[in-house]
Amino acid sequence: MAERPYIVGNWKMNGTRAMLSEARAIDRAAQRYMKVEVAVAPPYTLIHAVHKEAEQIGIGAQDCHSGAEGAHTGDINASMVADAGAKFVILGHSERRQDHAETNELINAKIESALEAGLRVILCCGESLETRDAGEAESFVLGQLRAALPIFQDPADRLTIAYEPIWAIGTGRTATAEDIAAMHRAIRALLDETFGEDVSAKVRILYGGSVKPDNAREILAVPEVGGALVGGASLSAENFLGIVVGASEAEEV
Ligand code: 13P
Repeated sequence: MAERPYIVGNWKMNGTRAMLSEARAIDRAAQRYMKVEVAVAPPYTLIHAVHKEAEQIGIGAQDCHSGAEGAHTGDINASMVADAGAKFVILGHSERRQDHAETNELINAKIESALEAGLRVILCCGESLETRDAGEAESFVLGQLRAALPIFQDPADRLTIAYEPIWAIGTGRTATAEDIAAMHRAIRALLDETFGEDVSAKVRILYGGSVKPDNAREILAVPEVGGALVGGASLSAENFLGIVVGASEAEEV
């Protein structure tokens, strides 16, 4: 990894206040691994509480609405998550694309509104197994990014990409180091082309999909990989910190 590794926990639809002790444990331990940037995206209901507990780790949201405040029952927009203490938002996760029929165009609008609200953005992309088996993984992922990347605002150092092959999420399967490296290179080339090399160099590309303490070091040692977006293993401080340790070891290689 060329830059400071970024390890982000995505708690998905998990966590009540009972999880605050895990957040505290993650935060305390993160203070011992300052070479690794550690962050957690709890559900909306815990953002403020985790923000109040945390001294070291970054706190983010898992989604936000694309609009200003108004008549949208049940929705939460970018300025509201920022007000609750979030510094970043994960957008375009495959589970949101699938469960809520989110399109690249909608995700693009969300990114613009999140940047406008001063948030950093983690934009997710990734192909299904059918797409990979058809040999179309790269063109599919680049298509997702081309359609979703911000157009109106220079993301400067506020954008992160997370490559998460859908077939690796929650399945225990991970992509091979070669496949991860190849996809990350293709994404980097697109970022260079879209924003220029100076801005692109500030964009970390994370890998996500069944990252665990026992495979983190190998994945994070892939030079193109700037960190990990972690689902299941981020729900326990012990497992999540195992990944943080893996990142700090990979950094020293
Ligand atoms: P798992 O780590 O549970 O496979 O989830 C990955 C993910 O979707 C993170 O956003």
